[in-house]
Amino acid sequence: MRHQDKVVIVTGAGRNIGEETAKLFVKEGAKVAVVDLDDRGQEVADRINATNPGCAVFVKANVADEDSVKNMIAETVKAFGRIDTLVNNVAISDNLTIRECTLADFQKTIDVTLTSQFLTCKYVGEQMIEQGDGGAMVNIGSTSGFKGRNSAVAYCAAKGGVANLMRAIASQYAEYGIRVNSVVPNRIGSPVGKEEFDPDRFVTNMLHRPGRPEELATAVSFMASDEASFIYGENLFVDGGYSAEMNG
Ligand SMILES: NC(=O)c1ccc[n+]([C@@H]2O[C@H](COP(=O)([O-])OP(=O)(O)OC[C@H]3O[C@@H](n4cnc5c(N)ncnc54)[C@H](O)[C@@H]3O)[C@@H](O)[C@H]2O)c1
Repeated sequence: MRHQDKVVIVTGAGRNIGEETAKLFVKEGAKVAVVDLDDRGQEVADRINATNPGCAVFVKANVADEDSVKNMIAETVKAFGRIDTLVNNVAISDNLTIRECTLADFQKTIDVTLTSQFLTCKYVGEQMIEQGDGGAMVNIGSTSGFKGRNSAVAYCAAKGGVANLMRAIASQYAEYGIRVNSVVPNRIGSPVGKEEFDPDRFVTNMLHRPGRPEELATAVSFMASDEASFIYGENLFVDGGYSAEMNG
């Protein structure tokens, strides 16, 4: 199996893309730390363990907080002994224009969406370097990091940062055998920060339908696997062709 006996951290795995990603890694042989700020992560871990006993642990963490990130790593290592793969999936959106967005709104979105990826890559990287046999990191981006939008000023800035932070980290970790890449969604099921899947969500992609969280999970799994061994510092767009097509 693709991820047999690998230990994987998936942040924001309490629902949607993160949840499906955690489930897929377990299906492919991994042990997973289901990381979330919300206790819904415990339910995801319970559901996984119901069919694959001992394969998931819920780690409650705020990935925007340095001590909490260090604790997340310690808890994962305590449960499973090491870390092979990090999936940075947490983000929040401000959904505000620059005129509406206060400095506090802006900083909160940057902290949770961008600074969190700096913190987790930094400290999980230290753990991987200490282990001495490499690893993989997949940072979830967004098409909002590649185009301007008429809302979500802080989220667009944060996701733009996510894209280039990933390239810099990829370049700096390559010598340790740690591969760093991004998967870039657009309009996957429910909007960021929302619970419910909306099959009628407005989309402008080639398929005229929103993506499904499972369709992101398969891309993340591939990018984290040895099959992607020559892919470094890359943004894999998983967006139903949205970015490839000129609209209007
Ligand atoms: N949903 C989409 O259409 C879409 C489109 C483009 C990009 N993305 C990206 O995909 C990723 C997942 O999106 P989603 O829609 O599944 O998100 P979501 O809002 O459904 O789930 C995010 C999870 O992260 C958790 N979380 C929030 N802040 C946290 C923190 N500080 N520490 C730990 N956990 C925290 C939440 O509790 C939640 O369970 C994000 O990076 C998002 O930017 C999503």
